[in-house]
Amino acid sequence: MRITIIGTGYVGLVSGTCFAEGGHTVICVDKDAGKIKMLQAGGMPIYEPGLEELVQKNVGAGRLCFSASTKEGVEKSDVIFIAVPTPPLPGGAVDLSFIEGVSREIAGEMREYKIVVDKSTVPVKTGEKVVETITRYCKAKVDFDVVSNPEFLREGFAVEDFMNPDRVVIGVMSARPVLAMKEIYAPYNAPVIVTDINSAELIKHAANSFLAMKISFINAVSVICELSGANVQEVAQGMGMDARIGRRFLDASLGFGGSCFPKDLSAFIRITETLGYPFGLLKEVQKINAEQMDRFVKKVSDTLWVLKGKTIGVLGLAFKQNTDDVRMSPAIELCQRLQQEGARLRVHDPQAMEKAKALLPEATYVANMDEVAEGCEALIIATEWPQFKKLDLDRARKSLMHPIIFDGRNLFNPEEMERLGFLYKSIGRGKA
Ligand code: UDX
Repeated sequence: MRITIIGTGYVGLVSGTCFAEGGHTVICVDKDAGKIKMLQAGGMPIYEPGLEELVQKNVGAGRLCFSASTKEGVEKSDVIFIAVPTPPLPGGAVDLSFIEGVSREIAGEMREYKIVVDKSTVPVKTGEKVVETITRYCKAKVDFDVVSNPEFLREGFAVEDFMNPDRVVIGVMSARPVLAMKEIYAPYNAPVIVTDINSAELIKHAANSFLAMKISFINAVSVICELSGANVQEVAQGMGMDARIGRRFLDASLGFGGSCFPKDLSAFIRITETLGYPFGLLKEVQKINAEQMDRFVKKVSDTLWVLKGKTIGVLGLAFKQNTDDVRMSPAIELCQRLQQEGARLRVHDPQAMEKAKALLPEATYVANMDEVAEGCEALIIATEWPQFKKLDLDRARKSLMHPIIFDGRNLFNPEEMERLGFLYKSIGRGKA
């Protein structure tokens, strides 16, 4: 199929590249001419494992190209995907102006039947608005279909998730675009569910809210574990072995962050309020998430007492492992909270240091994770990068002024850390 993706952010670039890898001919369009130039010159605007190689391979094979022209994208393709940002507005509602703008642009360039597919995360009933907009602005008055095809990829595993999806959701208003959509996804060998367009839009918000709820649930259990002397990892394992629950997304932490869960949760709460059913359970999910951070900051200040003037080492700045994304990162929030209390920070992240500098300009950035602890009162682990498990603990103990580690991601074994001479405080494992 000939496919155009409008919007070359995480979702657009990964989707376009993986569609090309599946054998389709793809044009990735973005109005940011600088980004398009960079991609045309072989540069990458984001870090995502495996993506750069796949872009090079498919550009080389002539299946993938980049353009700043929507006109070119619409003219040359049968199916146009919209993958533009839907940022939050103050109060939690979603800013749909990019979706509206792109719908108008597509409409203005359509001269023959096209399938317009929304991949961005949008409130239920947005598809109906896209249909209205295209109908209104389409000069040529040609036929078209609008499809909702939400994306479920996780940053850091985006290529893997795209190539091996758990499911593909195709929301339609009529049967006409279904065959083409199935053909697009045929190379990925995934179960396809065809729904009405409103259901497809709801699936995305409901799925992300449910996953966020799972994390807040286990984080609340982690508090009970600290109060009762139990171990949250053992509780999660025991719960997760029930196939109805499952072990994934039951890792207690500093709380969830990133560009999706916090935004989608607020948006879904807002949508349910607008529809006349305020989803109170999800407000509790947000509250537990915020309190998890408060509790961790308190753990640090209860132990170190006055933070003013003290130097603390922080491992991890990205909102999770395998990404350089620092948007809504719990690690960044933690650093900012510690700085507000007067702490000085020595920080390290395997990928996110460049992007973190704008948010934490006063921190000292350390290239080697084993050097972060030098001269620090304590060390904090804030992101679940697997390489942090290989930290030279002997060296860290000798470098720290006091052998104290706060682990917001439960990377180490508490008994082992105690044996090595650390005061080790993690999440939900024994007394706080
Ligand atoms: C999420 C969804 O997983 C994905 O399907 C959707 O398309 C976009 O939003 P992403 O934001 O990339 O993906 O990250 P994810 O791996 O889901 O993690 C989100 C946050 O939850 C991170 O801060 C992570 O550290 C945290 N998390 C995750 C936990 O604290 N505990 C867990 O058990 C799992």
